[in-house]
Amino acid sequence: MEEKLLAAKQMLQKYGQEHLLNSFNSLSKEKQSNLLDEILTTNFKQMQELYETTKTKADFHNVKLEPIAHITKAELSAEELEKYTSLGENAIQSGKLAVVTMAGGQGTRLGHNGPKGTYDLGLDSHKSIFEILCDTMKEACEKYNVTIPWYFMTSDANNEDTIQFFKDHNYFGYPKEAISFFIQGKLPMIDTEGKILLDEDGTIKQAADGHGGIFEAMRKNGVIYDMKEKGIEWVYIGGVDNVLAKMVDPVLTGLAISQGTLMAGKSVVKANPHERVGVFCKKDNRPNVIEYTEISDELAESTDEKGELLYGESHILCNQFHLSALEQISQNKLPYHVAFKKASYLNEKGEVVNPTEPNAYKFEAFLFDAFSTVDEMSILRVKREEEFAPVKNAEGVDSPETARALYKAFYHIN
Ligand code: UTP
Repeated sequence: MEEKLLAAKQMLQKYGQEHLLNSFNSLSKEKQSNLLDEILTTNFKQMQELYETTKTKADFHNVKLEPIAHITKAELSAEELEKYTSLGENAIQSGKLAVVTMAGGQGTRLGHNGPKGTYDLGLDSHKSIFEILCDTMKEACEKYNVTIPWYFMTSDANNEDTIQFFKDHNYFGYPKEAISFFIQGKLPMIDTEGKILLDEDGTIKQAADGHGGIFEAMRKNGVIYDMKEKGIEWVYIGGVDNVLAKMVDPVLTGLAISQGTLMAGKSVVKANPHERVGVFCKKDNRPNVIEYTEISDELAESTDEKGELLYGESHILCNQFHLSALEQISQNKLPYHVAFKKASYLNEKGEVVNPTEPNAYKFEAFLFDAFSTVDEMSILRVKREEEFAPVKNAEGVDSPETARALYKAFYHIN
């Protein structure tokens, strides 16, 4: 311990983070040891660089933006539909598709006490979001007569509760051996001076590294290797909070196979030019997503000769990757984006502070930054009422109430 303490002190001094040991003496032996391990494994140089990024504003003016081509599922001819469906079905039936559900988020807007997937949507059946997703997956397995390997990305904060929930409910009848969980990465949170925050228990305050952390987490946790062993070629990756998500869709898989692309994404048409969603586009000639905060009013409102929005393909976090693309992306770091959040912490005197205003920077990678690693991506526009019912906010838009209504309408439940 003494040696570790000395090494930690040296490290902290080098990066001006000595305050992290302020409450060291009041910690239990176990917590002291945890804190030292955290200090000795933290990449302080990276944190310093990330702090520098908080001082600069991203400049979108020099980026070349263009609309991206898409295919509308509802407008496919019978032959096209048949072609994509049969290509996709072949891949699915021969066990080449795996599904990953990203469930590592904090779900702060929903404010549910527990992992978002455990949330009771409020149906008469009282099904949780996890159970609803399981229903969809079970139906697909039955339809294609295959057991689809299903992975859940969790975070340090919710991994145990998530696994316990599945155990308590006997995996909702999904074959247990086909389900696995892996934990995403995390990064320390810092204050406006670049000082790393201490958590209430005296260890470093860390937060999940965003849904873009999935690629590195898949590699580090052996998920990519496991998929290779299983002969997986295509991987659907989606969020946990869309209760109408169709994770197994032969048309999406078949479209990518037919177009020879390594990535495919589903879109729904933007409800109005100023809906607060990111849209698929091309940035500097490569597929990407532009956030609603980044797009000018003029571009957001621009239309084609048919009156359709040029930037109208909302990114709904329903994407599919070829395993070789995942392997490649996972070797590189995606950029981190900064969010300014409220975060409780331990102050210099060892007191817990619960700020009422944002006080801390959190760093997150975004999954869609990976799109620009390929030249082309297949975009399939699907119908919102059939495939997109997100649970994001406690009330209002994209809330349990709206998702429940969409779910009931789709399944014809009164
Ligand atoms: P959101 O960006 O909507 O975040 O995640 P969230 O955590 O669910 O909710 P808020 O913003 O705190 O209210 C979209 C999807 O990405 C997953 C979420 O679990 C959700 O399925 N996600 C997000 C992760 O798996 N890890 C992360 O670090 C962030």
